[in-house]
Amino acid sequence: MKRKVYLFENITSTNDFCKNIAKVGATEGTVVVADMQTMGKGRMGRSFISPKGTGLYLSIVLRPKFDKIFLPLITTAAAVAAARAIEHVSPRKAFIKWVNDIYVDNKKVAGILAESSFSDTDENLNYTILGIGINILPPKNGFNESIKDIAGSVYKKFAPEGTRDRLLNEFLNEFEALYEKLPEKDFIIEYRERSFLIGKNITFIKNEEEISALVLDVDESGSLVVKKEDAEILTLSTGEVNIKKDENFYKAINE
Ligand code: BTN
Repeated sequence: MKRKVYLFENITSTNDFCKNIAKVGATEGTVVVADMQTMGKGRMGRSFISPKGTGLYLSIVLRPKFDKIFLPLITTAAAVAAARAIEHVSPRKAFIKWVNDIYVDNKKVAGILAESSFSDTDENLNYTILGIGINILPPKNGFNESIKDIAGSVYKKFAPEGTRDRLLNEFLNEFEALYEKLPEKDFIIEYRERSFLIGKNITFIKNEEEISALVLDVDESGSLVVKKEDAEILTLSTGEVNIKKDENFYKAINE
């Protein structure tokens, strides 16, 4: 892919901007990076707080040629690339919470939002926008009340000069390499190794009902394989899960 990077001081959302330019022909490998976002978007309609000077916010225009069954793996590959990039620029160990949250020191430091557009018939993919936000430092006034128990940053107080640009380059290098051979799924083993859900008890909502289950695995398509309390095995292809409160996962991921 031919990388072209555009830097913005201020943007609403790099994902939205990339969608607009993809609609008018932006080529695969177009990368939009912003110092801050005023309407950064997260999954499930949430917002992604994107203050100036403390994070890396970027989106990439992708035009995958592989079969659309592989599309969910774009997020899986991006999660592995982000975890590697964080470890290249800091001494921290990065873990992945399925589907696509990156955790450092038990806190979410990065999130990924991939959005695909199909033709009217739903047959052909027009483009996929891959967006990622990484908190390098906490916001100047700290994380706001609603996310402060979950959100964290790669560095706590100071980051070495140039960290954001190094993180950007490391992420793009890692992601592009995985994306070129995406259907080969080379990164699934590493995704599993970095997952801190395997072996843990979780809850998730299905048909408006809370279900408890034990996580068994992440399968070849990036889906979470879980065993319900009644022993039924379910494969979750997307969604969100919570670690059961009684799980001592802090201990587990520090071991
Ligand atoms: C999540 O954690 O729910 C996903 C967060 C994704 C945030 C990134 S920041 C760059 C890109 N532009 C957006 O508006 N969102 C993504």
